[in-house]
Amino acid sequence: MTSLPAPKPRWPLRLARRAVSPALFDFWATRVNRLWTLEQPLARLVSRTTASRDAVTLVFRPNGHWAGMRPGQHVSFGVTIGGRRLVRSYSPTLMGDGTLAITVKAITGGVVSEYLAREARIGEIVSLDKAFGDMTVAAGGESLLLLAAGSGITPMRALLRDLAARGMPMEVDLYYWARQRDDLCFVDELQAFAAAHPRLRVHFLVTREGDAPAARVDTTSFDAVESLHRRRVLACGPGGFVTAARERFNGHVASFEAEAFSLPPMTPGDDEAGEVEVHLSRSGRTLKLPRNQSLLEGLEAQGVRPANGCRMGICNTCACERTSGTTRHILTGDRSSEPTTQVRLCISAPRTDLILDL
Ligand SMILES: Cc1cc2nc3c(=O)[nH]c(=O)nc-3n(C[C@H](O)[C@H](O)[C@H](O)COP(=O)(O)OP(=O)(O)OC[C@H]3O[C@@H](n4cnc5c(N)ncnc54)[C@H](O)[C@@H]3O)c2cc1C
Ligand code: FES
Repeated sequence: MTSLPAPKPRWPLRLARRAVSPALFDFWATRVNRLWTLEQPLARLVSRTTASRDAVTLVFRPNGHWAGMRPGQHVSFGVTIGGRRLVRSYSPTLMGDGTLAITVKAITGGVVSEYLAREARIGEIVSLDKAFGDMTVAAGGESLLLLAAGSGITPMRALLRDLAARGMPMEVDLYYWARQRDDLCFVDELQAFAAAHPRLRVHFLVTREGDAPAARVDTTSFDAVESLHRRRVLACGPGGFVTAARERFNGHVASFEAEAFSLPPMTPGDDEAGEVEVHLSRSGRTLKLPRNQSLLEGLEAQGVRPANGCRMGICNTCACERTSGTTRHILTGDRSSEPTTQVRLCISAPRTDLILDL
C-alpha cells in the first residue's frame, strides 16, 4: 500500500492519548492547526482545476494519520455542509508529492458533488476514511479490458497512471463513455499514455452528440480487443452501466469485476410497494419504512444516522445484524431471510417486518 509517513507516537502524543479523549484533544488542537488531530485522518484542499464541462479536480494534502491507498481504490470523504457532516466516496489518484487528487462530477441536485464542484474553497478541511476496494492490479496480472462511464473513469485513471509508471506490463484496452465530448476528463493525459505505451489502447465514446452517437456498452463492438475471452474486465460507472456491462461480459471473459457509483433505477414490482415495520433493538424504536428504498435511505429519512461510507455495498461500513425478517439485495434482487445475519443497509431494502441490531 502506498502510504505517507505515519506519525511517530512521540512522547507528547502518547501522553495526550493517556490524558484526554481523542475528541477533546482534536477540539483544542484543531484550533491551533486545523490538521492537528490525535488519530483522525484529515486533509486540506490545496488546489482546484476544471476537469471537464461539469467536473473539477480537487487536490488535498492529508495529515500524517492517513494510511494511504492502492491505485484503483476509493476513499470516503467527510464534508461539512450547512453544519451537517456528509460522507461520500471518491476514487483518488495519489500524486507523487503525497497529495490526493479527486475528480468530482457535479450531479444535478447532488448535495456533496455540487458543493465540492462549485463551492469548496482552498483551505477547506475534509475527513478521510480508510481506503477500500478490490479493483487493483498486481504485478504480473493478466491483460485488462477497462470499461468506464462518466465519473467511473476516476479509478481507471489512477490504475493507468500506475501502470504507465510500471511500463505498461500487460495489454490494456480502455473504453470510456461520456454523453458529450466536453464531458470527457483526462483526454490529453490518456492519449499521451497511449502514445507512449503501444500495449495501451484508449477508446473515447460519446453517446449524445453527432449524427451517429457511439454505441453503449451492450451494443459496442469489442472485436478490436485481442483475446477478449482471456481478459480481466474491470467496469466502473453508474449502476445502469455496470448492470449492462455485467450482462454483456460475465461468463465470456477470464473474470469480470465491477463497482457501481450509483444504484440502478429501482423498478419494484407490486410486492415491493408499501411499508414494513422495522424494530431497532438497541434504541428500542419501531419505524415504518418503505419497501422500495434502501434501509439506509429509509432510516436517514426518519432521522436515524447509521455509520456509512460508499453507500454502494463496497466498503462494509453500514453492515448491521438483521436479527429477523427478509431483505432484498437492491443490486441483484436476491432475497435473504436467514436469522442473525449481517446486511449492508445501503444495498438492502426491507421486504417483511424486520428487527435490526441498531
Ligand atoms: C466507490 C465509489 C467511488 C466513487 N468515486 C467517485 C469519483 O471519483 N468521482 C465522482 O464524481 N463520483 C464518485 N462517486 C460517486 C459519489 O460518491 C457520489 O455519489 C456523487 O458525488 C453524488 O453525491 P451527491 O451527494 O452529490 O448526490 P446525492 O445528494 O447523494 O444524490 C442525489 C441524486 O443523484 C443520484 N446519484 C448519486 N450519485 C450518482 C452518480 N455517481 N451518478 C448519477 N447519479 C447519481 C442519486 O441517486 C440521487 O438521486 C463514487 C461512488 C462510489 C460508491
Ligand atoms: S456504506 Fe459502504 S457498504 Fe454500505
